[in-house]
Amino acid sequence: MDRNEPRKSWVHPSWDLPDCATTPEAYYLRRREFLRVFGLGLAASALLPPGIRAESPGLNDSLHPSYKLDGVKLTPEDLITSYNNFYEWGLAKDQPKELANHGWKTRPWSVEIGGLCVNPRKLDVDELIQLLGPIEHRNYRHRCVEAWSMVMPWDGFALAKLVELAQPTPDAKYVKFTSFLDPANCSGQRSNEFSWPYTEGLTMEEAHNELALIAVGLYGKPLRNQNGAPLRLVVPWKYGFKSAKSLAKIDFVTEQPRTLWNQLAPNEYGFYANVNPNVDHPRWSQKSERVIGASFFAGKQPTLMFNGYEKQVAHLYAGMDLRKNF
Ligand code: MTE
Repeated sequence: MDRNEPRKSWVHPSWDLPDCATTPEAYYLRRREFLRVFGLGLAASALLPPGIRAESPGLNDSLHPSYKLDGVKLTPEDLITSYNNFYEWGLAKDQPKELANHGWKTRPWSVEIGGLCVNPRKLDVDELIQLLGPIEHRNYRHRCVEAWSMVMPWDGFALAKLVELAQPTPDAKYVKFTSFLDPANCSGQRSNEFSWPYTEGLTMEEAHNELALIAVGLYGKPLRNQNGAPLRLVVPWKYGFKSAKSLAKIDFVTEQPRTLWNQLAPNEYGFYANVNPNVDHPRWSQKSERVIGASFFAGKQPTLMFNGYEKQVAHLYAGMDLRKNF
């Protein structure tokens, strides 16, 4: 099936953004290359939904009307991979690309799944990918708490699948995500400006939401180091800092996890961190955002409640005071 055609076998999910006009040539992904790098081989390719992403160019010209969503454009790949927040590798946006690619190895890589669950395990990332495949392709809006945004074409699998694999016990109320800790090879982690490793958390209900994703690729290629290789969380209705990169550990816990940003500045970075144009950051407005890659003259665009995913997630916070639980 071509992505331009309506999907016949399943209902088109309402959160799915189309592949749009600015799609760079790299997007016409080399699926085989992707599979080869992941070492999945032919057996795994049989598991993949065929051609969810079109391999032919001129995608938007023939885009089926049901996938059209005016005004949404994918951020070019070179910007997504060069304008990064990954404080383990420096505070400037261009540092992660430079510093995370000087001999830092993100394969082999083991991931530990533990805490309150029936099936704790430690396994290699490629084994995990095989267990949780097929890999899905999802175009998501990305809104950083710093008031800039992108639209990113992720490859990955629903976090809910990983939860299912682990089988959390009824006592598990939250999922804690822990990024790698490797001060010997990561210069930033040798400073104690932050309390490494980077940690984040979601409620169990949030982890089950269909939008919560474990990404292993971007633009049809394995994740680059600067984007959180070999696997990271993606929670598109929350500010980008919730989407912890380069995960080493995923734990099911009873208490709300302490998270890096929340610990550092609790008055600025709440646990929930839902994108909300009505609650400003204490130091700047969250009403609008600068679109990375857009013309300077385009100005800022309004920020949407839950980053545009209100329909899919608002029910998770019904009755909650979003000013207090920011
Ligand atoms: N994960 C780790 N481990 N370290 C970080 O510094 N930065 C967060 C998030 N995940 C960060 C992280 C922030 S602030 C954002 S906006 C996104 O990653 C940026 O992801 P990107 O560089 O792929 O756009």
